[in-house]
Amino acid sequence: MKIDILTLFPNMFENFLSESIIKRAIEKKQVEINIINFRDFSHLNNSQVDDTPYGGGSGMVLMVEPLVEAIESCKQKDSKVILMCPQGKTYKQEHAVELKNEHHLILVCGHYEGFDERIRQFVDEEISIGDYILTGGEIPAMAVVDSVVRLLDGVIKKESYQEESFSNNLLDYPTYTKPRDFRGLKVPDVLLSGNHAKIEEWRKEQQLKKTAEKRKDLMN
Ligand SMILES: C[S@@+](CC[C@H](N)C(=O)[O-])C[C@H]1O[C@@H](n2cnc3c(N)ncnc32)[C@H](O)[C@@H]1O
Repeated sequence: MKIDILTLFPNMFENFLSESIIKRAIEKKQVEINIINFRDFSHLNNSQVDDTPYGGGSGMVLMVEPLVEAIESCKQKDSKVILMCPQGKTYKQEHAVELKNEHHLILVCGHYEGFDERIRQFVDEEISIGDYILTGGEIPAMAVVDSVVRLLDGVIKKESYQEESFSNNLLDYPTYTKPRDFRGLKVPDVLLSGNHAKIEEWRKEQQLKKTAEKRKDLMN
C-alpha cells in the first residue's frame, strides 16, 4: 500500500514514521508513506497557501488551488482521496478494515479555520475522528494511517487483531502479566490453570460482560 499525506506541517510526522510498528512496516516495504507539503504548490511569491474568508469572519482558510494541485501531483487511477474533516463520517474500526484493501490513499490535512469549500469536489470521502475540533488534520491522519497499517498483511500477527476490541462487535477481554499478585490484586485463577478450553470460555464471557457494561451500543 502507498499513502501520501498532504500537510503544511511535515515535521509533525517525523517521530510518527520513525518509531515502532509503523517504522518496521516501512522498512519491510509493507507500506510506503510520503509526506507532501502543499506549500510547495503555492502560486504566490511568499509561498502563501491561505487567505482570509470571503464574507468576513475569523481565521485563515486554505486555498483550493495549491491543495488540488498537490492532490493531482500524486493521484493515480486507483487512488482514494480522503479529507480529514470534523464534518466527515466518524471513523470506526470497520472503516480501517475497508481502507486496508485500497492500493493508494491520499490524506489531506486541513489547518487553521479549514479549507475552501470547493476542495470537496476533489475528494472521495471525508473522515472525522470524533466530535471535537483539533488544530489540524495531522493527528487524524496519523490515527487513520496507524489503524490501517497495523492491519496490512504481515505487519502484526493476525491473532492480535482478530480478538481485539470492535472485532465481532465486542470489547477485548481483560489481560494480565507478572506479578501474579500486585498489592492484593490477583490474576484470576483460571488464567494460571493451563486449561485452554476454560481460559477461552472465560475470555468470551468477559468480552460479553465488559461490552454489556461499557458499550452496550456495540451489541445492538
Ligand atoms: C480547526 S479545524 C477547522 C474546523 C472547521 N472550522 C469546522 O468547524 O468544521 C482545522 C482542521 O483540522 C482538521 N480537524 C480538526 N478536527 C478534526 C476531527 N475531529 N477529525 C478530522 N479532522 C479534524 C481538519 O482538517 C480541519 O480542516
